[in-house]
Amino acid sequence: MQFAKRLQPLQSNVFADMDRAKAVALSIGRQLIDLSLGSSDLPAEAHVIEAIAQSLHDRSTHGYLLFHGTQAFRQAAADWYEQKFGISVDPETEVLPLIGSQEGTAHLPLALLDPGDFALLLDPGYPSHAGGVYLANGQIYTMPLLAKNDFLPVLADIPAAVLAQSRMMVLSYPHNPTAAIAPLAFFQEAVAFCQQHNLVLVHDFPYVDLVFEEAGVGSRKDKETNRIINPQSPVPSILQADPEKSVSIEFFTLSKSYNMGGFRIGYAIGNAQLINALRQVKAAVDFNQYGGILNGAIAALTGPQAGVTDSVAIFRKRRDAFINALHSIGWQVPTPKATMYIWAKLPAPWNQNSVEFCTQLVKQTGVAASPGAGFGKSGEGYVRFALVHEPPLLETAVGRIAEFL
Ligand SMILES: Cc1ncc(COP(=O)(O)O)c(C=O)c1O
Repeated sequence: MQFAKRLQPLQSNVFADMDRAKAVALSIGRQLIDLSLGSSDLPAEAHVIEAIAQSLHDRSTHGYLLFHGTQAFRQAAADWYEQKFGISVDPETEVLPLIGSQEGTAHLPLALLDPGDFALLLDPGYPSHAGGVYLANGQIYTMPLLAKNDFLPVLADIPAAVLAQSRMMVLSYPHNPTAAIAPLAFFQEAVAFCQQHNLVLVHDFPYVDLVFEEAGVGSRKDKETNRIINPQSPVPSILQADPEKSVSIEFFTLSKSYNMGGFRIGYAIGNAQLINALRQVKAAVDFNQYGGILNGAIAALTGPQAGVTDSVAIFRKRRDAFINALHSIGWQVPTPKATMYIWAKLPAPWNQNSVEFCTQLVKQTGVAASPGAGFGKSGEGYVRFALVHEPPLLETAVGRIAEFL
């Protein structure tokens, strides 16, 4: 059977290799502590489940929802955004429900790229950003993220010839896997850059709520305008840097803030033409998420937010326990201010072979982590641990890592 060439870059995936290594570890009797997946182990809240349960008994939710979702969902998303960032959003033209933000970011290149056009992606970055570009027969220019630049890309380093053929740039802060956060000033620079070079600016924003106090939680005053920014969010949205929504589209998900990864619900907010273009792609592909799930999402977005604060406190405790344990075995790793990940620079002799480190670690100890190389060339030399277990198990994992090292 002959398959399309665009499938080839999707075939080699170090995470599939890791899955095999995990299976081997299990088959030889290792007790697995899986820190390799960024899937929250915390449950969705009771009022969310209740809204979905009630919808199941409502036969009006049983049919196709078609591609625009429900007005109530779009309004809840727009209100949530306005409350958090103080930017008004038209629920009719500037919001699009998605079957998870991964679906949206992976489909968008089909609306923007002609074959051979470039997308500018973060390296390391989230794999589906590249996957979507491959599916659209685009080319990828990777922007290396280095510790010395606080894991922000240096836009001036992008070659003019690449820029001339580029249609889109993808950013994502708080960042998976490095856990870096981006200041509003960097977003302003990125917006100006994309306006100047006629690029669409995509911002994938799943960790908007998973931010710890150290990042400066609370509202802040913009020095220049004296305006209160981020009424409720400690980290900026890309639209605060592009309030006219001239070039930007942002992707949210309920997977992280509301522990709803399995429910597959997210949304895009931004430039109305971009929203419309993505809607056109989706209309060819899917009939939208189930209406009951949208009702659960409305309950999450409009209901009590104490669960979000509680989740952040849980991840913060885990982070502290894991970092302290790593420090106690002599592995100096910076304390992340956001996300559910620890991005750790590997010690010698593993510093240029993260895949081998992770493969051997899981086989010998049962502790599974994600090799930095799986997120891109510049991720080599690092390993990502996802904080998806409680502190005692995280400490056990570090004990096993110490023996392995
Ligand atoms: C940067 C980034 N984007 C998207 C996703 C997936 O989000 P969703 O569950 O909404 O598809 C993740 C999940 O880990 C992520 O880290």
